[in-house]
Amino acid sequence: MNEKYLNNTSVLISSIFTLLLLVSFGFAEEAMDSDKQDSTGVTNEFSNLPKDDTCISCHIEEEEMPEGFNENDIHMQAGLSCVGCHGGDNTIDDEDEAMDEENGFVGVPDREEIPALCGKCHSSIEFMRDYQPRIATDQVEQYYTSIHGEKFKQGDENVATCISCHSSHGIMPATDPRSTVYALSVPGTCKSCHSDKDYMADYNIPTDQYEKYAASVHGEALLDREDTGAPACNDCHGNHGTTPPGVASLAHVCGSCHVQNEEYFSQTQMAKEFAEDEMHACLECHGNHAVAKPTDDMVGIGEDAICMECHDVDEDGYFAADSIHIMLTQITAAYDSALSKLEEVKIIGMDDVEIGFLLQDAHQDIIHSRTLVHTFDPQRVKEKADVALKNSRDAIKLGIKELDDYDTRRMGLGVATLFITVLAIALFFKIRYIEEEQEKNKL
Ligand code: HEC
Ligand code: HEC
Ligand code: HEC
Ligand code: HEC
Ligand code: HEC
Ligand code: HEC
Ligand code: HEC
Ligand code: HEC
Ligand code: HEC
Repeated sequence: MNEKYLNNTSVLISSIFTLLLLVSFGFAEEAMDSDKQDSTGVTNEFSNLPKDDTCISCHIEEEEMPEGFNENDIHMQAGLSCVGCHGGDNTIDDEDEAMDEENGFVGVPDREEIPALCGKCHSSIEFMRDYQPRIATDQVEQYYTSIHGEKFKQGDENVATCISCHSSHGIMPATDPRSTVYALSVPGTCKSCHSDKDYMADYNIPTDQYEKYAASVHGEALLDREDTGAPACNDCHGNHGTTPPGVASLAHVCGSCHVQNEEYFSQTQMAKEFAEDEMHACLECHGNHAVAKPTDDMVGIGEDAICMECHDVDEDGYFAADSIHIMLTQITAAYDSALSKLEEVKIIGMDDVEIGFLLQDAHQDIIHSRTLVHTFDPQRVKEKADVALKNSRDAIKLGIKELDDYDTRRMGLGVATLFITVLAIALFFKIRYIEEEQEKNKL
């Protein structure tokens, strides 16, 4: 073989290789394209959408999809298409004809038309029945009872409408974590207006609700620990009837979750007096957005106690505050020292089961005593507090007994060890003595 021939072959082989590579790339690209193509031959990054809907395919092709569009939008998923809100004919390819008023096209709705637009379907039981038979159909009606709705009717440009909270083209059910009204996302949705000082400048209301809420027991539980049992803004304000809950319903808003606190409090003279003076039940002591973790010092006559804000030294409230505080301090002190006894018992490996049970009960009773504070009746707090105190003290006694038993056993063990050691030493000398005797005898 000569060199030239060899060169020619290698050129040929490498050309074939390059060609093959190019062809295979071409195929791959085509394959990828055909994945994205719909029947109209349009490249489609939204693989979930119907292919024969001309509104959708033309808007994708023309890059005219609305801002914030999400293909998981519930209306797209339900097959309602763009036509559901904008009208028109989604079977016609021609732009002007598809979007002709003659074909029902309404274009982009004005702000003041939004509730009616959504209500067209959402207020119709007949329409909604075919999709979600159990879904409520009162959102629009409810909306107009809220401050948002009332002001909207008066022409206010800034209040929330349906799309402020739900968006227009990425609407999802509240159960979907991607939804703007998903429990964990609601505070952020409200915050976008209510924490914006410039946006809210014309209104005479604070803009600190989110900030306070986020730092509260509720915000911390929902936003940091993702505990959806804790209230988001809408759990207190309603989803659509967004008003500050009325004075009469205030206790009930909190009471819908804190049932027992409400029940106890509603029976007090204090509650009746609050209602008459239009005072805000739970809020007088706990606040609304900045609800903090209560401590035993909140009740009492000390500096951190709230009771003294309203009660004078010789009133019933003063004496009740003082004696409830003393009781709570006593039971937590007893509980804490029982807990450290339990630790000691655990460390030395003695029986801790019974003590554990007693302390579990005591813990429950302490929690209940704190709830009973809302009767503001020292006698009622005392009944539970006494049980908690007795269980803690019994636990301490049991702990002391276990520790004593341990000492006794250890003492017994010590004596036995000493005895055995003495015996062993004696035995050692005895054996040595016998061996020495034997040595002597051999000699
Ligand atoms: C053949 C292409 C094509 C079809 C089919 C089509 N559109 Fe459009 N559409 C466009 C283009 C391009 C624009 C932006 C330019 C304009 O406003 O005319 C537009 C604009 C819009 C707008 C905004 C109008 C405005 O005033 O800003 C809406 C809403 C709309 N289309 C909805 C629809 C709906 C609903 C359908 C189906 C019934 C549809 N389109 C069908 C191409 C199309
Ligand atoms: C649930 C009702 C609803 C559906 C369904 C809907 N839209 Fe809209 N659309 C609106 C509303 C309300 C507005 C005006 C407010 C806004 O801009 O968000 C709007 C605005 C628009 C605009 C103009 C503003 C912009 O963002 O460009 C276009 C274009 C548009 N829609 C296209 C579409 C297309 C295309 C579809 C189908 C893929 C669609 N819409 C589906 C409610 C809807
Ligand atoms: C053409 C009728 C129609 C229009 C107009 C319409 N919707 Fe809907 N919407 C529906 C239907 C039907 C469903 C239920 C779909 C399903 O569950 O499959 C739905 C579902 C929803 C859901 C989810 C409900 C849930 O929790 O399951 C929300 C939120 C919603 N729509 C808000 C809106 C808003 C806001 C507007 C106005 C911008 C609007 N809709 C306009 C028909 C409509
Ligand atoms: C201030 C914010 C806000 C406004 C304004 C608002 N919504 Fe809602 N909407 C919510 C929240 C929050 C939920 C979800 C509650 C939940 O179930 O956790 C919701 C739920 C829904 C649902 C699901 C079914 C239901 O009732 O729970 C529909 C449908 C709906 N809204 C439609 C509308 C329509 C139509 C409008 C306008 C009239 C509107 N919303 C205005 C916040 C709002
Ligand atoms: C689009 C912006 C916007 C969004 C989003 C919004 N709001 Fe509002 N809200 C307003 C404006 C503006 C007012 C009117 C303030 C006023 O008149 O005092 C208002 C009023 C209120 C009021 C009555 C305040 C008063 O005057 O006592 C409450 C309560 C309220 N909103 C709660 C909410 C909650 C809860 C959310 C979320 C689920 C929310 N808002 C979402 C703009 C918004
Ligand atoms: C635990 C219940 C609760 C939660 C959660 C809650 N609020 Fe409130 N909010 C209230 C009560 C009660 C009032 C009425 C206070 C009053 O009248 O003194 C109120 C008042 C308001 C007001 C009227 C102005 C003001 O500050 O007094 C706005 C606006 C508001 N809340 C928005 C929000 C927003 C936004 C969130 C979520 C970030 C939220 N709220 C969370 C109970 C709550
Ligand atoms: C949707 C249910 C719900 C509503 C409404 C609600 N809360 Fe709560 N609240 C909770 C949950 C859940 C926790 C426990 C949070 C945690 O794990 O720390 C809690 C915790 C608390 C705590 C602290 C308890 C403790 O031992 O640390 C106080 C105080 C409190 N809430 C008061 C209120 C007041 C006052 C209102 C009304 C303005 C209210 N809550 C409305 C669910 C609710
Ligand atoms: C916001 C004001 C306010 C605060 C704070 C307050 N009280 Fe009262 N309290 C009242 C009013 C008003 C009454 C009813 C009139 C009266 O008997 O003085 C009342 C009554 C009482 C009574 C009489 C019995 C009954 O059934 O109501 C007791 C006991 C009492 N309070 C204890 C307390 C304790 C303990 C605290 C602290 C945890 C406290 N109060 C905090 C306003 C307050
Ligand atoms: C007069 C003041 C006052 C009022 C009114 C009041 N609380 Fe309390 N609350 C307290 C005090 C003080 C504590 C702290 C008890 C402790 O930890 O020792 C407390 C503790 C709590 C706790 C935590 C302990 C527990 O029960 O789990 C919750 C939850 C609570 N309150 C909810 C409410 C609700 C709901 C209302 C309205 C129905 C309300 N409170 C009304 C003073 C008040």
